[in-house]
Amino acid sequence: MRTTIFYFSGTGNSLWIAQVLARELGETEVVSMVNWNKKQHIVESRRIGLIFPVYMWGVPRRVLEFLDQLPAKNAEYIFAVANNAGQVANTLVQLDKTMQAKGLLLSSGWSIVMPSNYIPWGGPVSLGKQNELFKAARLKISYIVQEINQRAEKQVEKGPLWQRIIFSGLYKISSPHIPKMDGKFWADEKCNKCGICIQLCPNNNISRQDDKLTWHNHCEQCLACIQWCPQGALQYGRKTSAYSRYHHPDIKLKDLLS
Ligand SMILES: Cc1cc2nc3c(=O)[nH]c(=O)nc-3n(C[C@H](O)[C@H](O)[C@H](O)COP(=O)(O)O)c2cc1C
Repeated sequence: MRTTIFYFSGTGNSLWIAQVLARELGETEVVSMVNWNKKQHIVESRRIGLIFPVYMWGVPRRVLEFLDQLPAKNAEYIFAVANNAGQVANTLVQLDKTMQAKGLLLSSGWSIVMPSNYIPWGGPVSLGKQNELFKAARLKISYIVQEINQRAEKQVEKGPLWQRIIFSGLYKISSPHIPKMDGKFWADEKCNKCGICIQLCPNNNISRQDDKLTWHNHCEQCLACIQWCPQGALQYGRKTSAYSRYHHPDIKLKDLLS
């Protein structure tokens, strides 16, 4: 059955999952939620996948917005993969409820643990640990493919009860502040004005004015700008200059720019 997978990704983990899943499913197109143009792209697929990262224990705002234009008219089976750094919490339950309110049925939802890209809290885990996570993720993707092929209709995966209670509250409190959390970004002297951060930003939130980069308070916190800067010149607060950058090793800048 033909499948369309829509992904949202800051540092490539979600895109990599989408690509591996697409290869294993066959007959699958992988489409960015950010660049997708409803008018130019008619979706005929009867199977639709949503793949995205967990942000602050919930669904990224950009993904929630995308649900309003989800081309699900022909869809018989909708599945989701929320990838995260170990705390999926209530994300897929939130997605399920949001979709129900819009008259959409989420048939199944899975969590996959990937390396964290949340640089404000520290640099990436070691390469050895990253490879362990990728290996486990490949196994989980193979399992998900079997489930999708059998049209599994299951309760979505979720974190332990304590995580869901505490972190759902934190999501509600913190999520509205995300767009303005870009006040801590700055460019250091290594910035060579290549403009890649401006091109990568899914919200067109970065501009250069008077030779200075400015973030305009419509931030998604995807961290693509800081993680992909070829010079490592972008910083968030005072600690990030000491941390290495992360993006999925198989995903290249051009994959996210295209
Ligand atoms: C703003 C932000 C918030 C995050 N919050 C969580 C979280 O609540 N739980 C978690 O396990 N990982 C969290 N992460 C880590 C990402 O979900 C994880 O690294 C994901 O694989 C990144 O996917 P991407 O490369 O497709 O952007 C967060 C990352 C960002 C940027």
